[in-house]
Amino acid sequence: MAGYTLPKGYTLKTYQSLESTSDEAKRLAHEGVSAGLWVVAEEQTKGRGRHGRNWVSGEGNLYASLLLYPACDLSHIPELSFVAAVAVAGACRHFCPDATITCKWPNDILIGGKKAAGILLESESSGNPQKPWVVIGIGINVVSAPEGVDYPAAALGNFEAGQVFEVLALKMAEALVRWGKDGFGPIRTLWLNQAHGRGDSIRIESGGEIREGVFEGLSATGALLLREKQGTLMEILSGTVLKD
Ligand code: BTN
Repeated sequence: MAGYTLPKGYTLKTYQSLESTSDEAKRLAHEGVSAGLWVVAEEQTKGRGRHGRNWVSGEGNLYASLLLYPACDLSHIPELSFVAAVAVAGACRHFCPDATITCKWPNDILIGGKKAAGILLESESSGNPQKPWVVIGIGINVVSAPEGVDYPAAALGNFEAGQVFEVLALKMAEALVRWGKDGFGPIRTLWLNQAHGRGDSIRIESGGEIREGVFEGLSATGALLLREKQGTLMEILSGTVLKD
């Protein structure tokens, strides 16, 4: 992947194989590397998804993690998963302009209702509160979609992972600039405008329970707003929206 153009202020380290690009980015954070480092691998041998799930990571798909040290208040760090979702959706749209690309709460990207990309946001604030690191791990199914997974999967098509990375890096840089300048409001609006299943009845697994209701939108901090049958509006902070 050498020779790819990156937006100003970003650097790239590429690997043929890593256990996990996010683990490598964290290791480099502990070594004190500068913000804006992308770690990209052609394959991962221990790719991780949300909630400790495995992320199938064979060759041909994109595995990339971005290291940042955001200067914002720690309470704003979860907003970065929506920043990344907007960027990843933009990159997917670049390659599949005619497809229906949506954002599934909290941070999956769907093509035609099937999962094509996932985002894993990890941060550490306890070790060095002066300089908390955030690693945004992004997996995009470029050429192949895993089978036998919880949620049906899709892939972008016959593209090179490196080409997809280049567009992703640009979209991320743009979304981060917008977030840095204007805050979460515009990112939240962009996300909502392409949200999957807004206004629909959904089932969501959260804290070991399955809840049902209408997906009404996002709170000001990114929680899912679920209107339950009896009329209560629940704010769900973390969970998985199940396949309908
Ligand atoms: C999910 O949808 O569960 C999130 C998947 C995140 C996968 C990416 S691939 C690059 C980075 N390295 C990992 O080990 N995980 C993330």
